[in-house]
Amino acid sequence: MKHSVILRLSLALVLFSLCGNLSAQKGELSVIPIPTEYELGEGEFVIDQHTVLYADPTESEVTHIAEGFQQQLRTVTGMLLPVMPLEDFEDQQNAVVFQLMPDEELGAEGYQLEVTPNHILIKANKPAGLFYAVQTLYQLLPPEVVENEVVRAVDWTVPAVSIIDVPAYKWRGLHLDTGRHISSIDFIKKYLDQMAAHKLNTFHWHLTEDQGWRLQINKYPLLTEVGAYRDSTLVGHYGTGKYDGKRYGGYYTQDEAREIVAYAKDRYITVVPEIEMPGHATAAVASYPQLGNTDKPVKTVTTWGVFPDIFNVEESTFDFLEDVLVEVLDIFPSKYIHIGGDEAPKDQWEASERIQFKIDSLGLKNEHELQSYFITRIEKFLNSKGRQIIGWDEILEGGLAPNAAVMSWRGEEGGIAAAKDAHYVVMSPGSHLYFDHGQGDPDQEPLNIGGYLPLEKVYSYKPTPDALSDEEAKYIMGAQANVWTEYLPTSDSREYMVFPRISALAEVVWSGEDHKDWESFQKRIPQQLKRYELQDINFAYTIYNVEIRAKYDEKAKDFEVVLHPQWDGTVHYTLDGSTPIAASAVYEKPLKLKAGKTVKAGLFDDSELKGSISSETLVIPKSKN
Ligand code: ACM
Repeated sequence: MKHSVILRLSLALVLFSLCGNLSAQKGELSVIPIPTEYELGEGEFVIDQHTVLYADPTESEVTHIAEGFQQQLRTVTGMLLPVMPLEDFEDQQNAVVFQLMPDEELGAEGYQLEVTPNHILIKANKPAGLFYAVQTLYQLLPPEVVENEVVRAVDWTVPAVSIIDVPAYKWRGLHLDTGRHISSIDFIKKYLDQMAAHKLNTFHWHLTEDQGWRLQINKYPLLTEVGAYRDSTLVGHYGTGKYDGKRYGGYYTQDEAREIVAYAKDRYITVVPEIEMPGHATAAVASYPQLGNTDKPVKTVTTWGVFPDIFNVEESTFDFLEDVLVEVLDIFPSKYIHIGGDEAPKDQWEASERIQFKIDSLGLKNEHELQSYFITRIEKFLNSKGRQIIGWDEILEGGLAPNAAVMSWRGEEGGIAAAKDAHYVVMSPGSHLYFDHGQGDPDQEPLNIGGYLPLEKVYSYKPTPDALSDEEAKYIMGAQANVWTEYLPTSDSREYMVFPRISALAEVVWSGEDHKDWESFQKRIPQQLKRYELQDINFAYTIYNVEIRAKYDEKAKDFEVVLHPQWDGTVHYTLDGSTPIAASAVYEKPLKLKAGKTVKAGLFDDSELKGSISSETLVIPKSKN
């Protein structure tokens, strides 16, 4: 009896260290984003009722971080581990040590984490690094550690590992459009919690839109009394022409916005507010018609798209915008203030005598130069208050304001041009980082704006374009994914678009090109999905589905059909219309099929269907001639 236990134990140890080594080679640590350097060790650290946390009591941020860990462990284990002064730590066993330590290499956000069976040592140059180390620690623990109630029958073990982790980019952003549909404060807090868990550090809060002005401005109460509401909302996809006839709206009080800023700060996240100008301004013009270009009454918009009612360039309009910004600056301490700048149609400016007179009197060539004048004036104002502007890449048109940073969304060209011109850049191209786009077969997806952005494509994104020299590349601050909410009216719908693509984003911006690895990521994502599940996150299951890629060969008059899973496992398919099961044909190589066939396919793991069945009937594409 005893013998066999020992035998089993030593077998387990051999297996463990073998797996450990294999994992180390393949990068299968259960951590997302994958650390930039790590090595698995032998054995594991066990958190139990005798574990002691150590932190320097004179460093309040460090103590706060240690106490955050203490509280989360209390939530799931019921144990309250003591936090003792760092000076009492003399290499005792069963200790978790939080320590600041000057180390330039770790920078403002990097950390070192050493886990042995005896202790967990966390070191960082700055508190943010310790905070990120704790996020890693949560992921090394069993996934149940993220729950918000006591979990029984879990061993709170951490595998021995040595990690040095430094982010590739300093702007690791996620955006949320609260103009088209408003998110509750609770939802935004959950969003920020998840951003922090993924080591993202910039929350771009899109606050003003044609369809709703969402921030209370004390000096201009009509912005929220009028501009925060619309009479109706488009139902379904653009072009249905159907409206729900229901008044919709809401806004954030300044106190609520401050609460979000503080909540974010506690998680080392900067909130960058966006106040759109000169376009996407209909709700503002509806509230204060003197800001617009025509005498026609304007209402907050009820549908989606780009709209003509942009701000005029009267001095009184600049006074208004400066007043608004003064209140914005008082709420948001961020270095960057996003001033929009995108999608401002110039029709009303072209048609306005006053605007044309202004263009002439300023010696400008056209409306693009007027927009540049507009943005440059706002930049001067914000610079005078110690802030910088960032805007969508349209702010390049007509000349970039001298100190502006550019958020490149219409591809990378704007970002490349700005970096070459020594302006800071955040990459956010629609092709790879628009999380409002679909992520699977449209037949299987909830309503969305369209497009196709599977997890793997997000993962493939590289924020620094090859077109830049090393010197120019320094201007790429990082990247950000955008979540536009035209078709995302509920918390569930927004979560569906964000998760798990946020995991891919995290590796793009934190692990970076040199350390990310799609194969390894695929192996680590199931654990991440488990965490999402435990936190009631409505993530997209689409990543478990098989994508059917059919290409018609004109000459051979048949289709080549590739069945592409995003995932390890076995693809089973049928061609007779029946639903694939584990006994159906196994996909091994591209299929040659005639028009009219219906392909159905699913991804199986140990005979179990992972996602849902994909189906496509092959139809010869219409000839272009
Ligand atoms: C944008 O998507 N209009 C920036």
